[in-house]
Amino acid sequence: MAHLEVRSVTKAFKGRSGPITALENVDLDVGLGEFVCLVGASGGGKSTILNIIAGLTEPTEGVVYVDG
Ligand SMILES: Nc1ncnc2c1ncn2[C@@H]1O[C@H](COP(=O)(O)OP(=O)(O)O)[C@@H](O)[C@H]1O
Ligand SMILES: [Mg+2]
Repeated sequence: MAHLEVRSVTKAFKGRSGPITALENVDLDVGLGEFVCLVGASGGGKSTILNIIAGLTEPTEGVVYVDG
């Protein structure tokens, strides 16, 4: 079991012309003390996944576990 487990996280925001899928079925494992960089284009969902991991944003689907 990883220190941080992101399981099947999907996030949809309400856009002007329908839902915007910022994240779709994201899985991520991070071990204790492991150094991880998120790299991607602007609008790729980096801040959204970090906000979900931090507990500031609710995922539409999926779960995040810390130490289980
Ligand atoms: N609060 C919000 N309401 C509507 N759309 C959002 C919101 N936050 C982010 N988005 C959209 O979700 C997508 C991912 O955004 P974001 O996580 O900020 O990307 P990044 O941090 O990689 O630039 C973008 O299409 C962005 O416009
Ligand atoms: Mg960002």
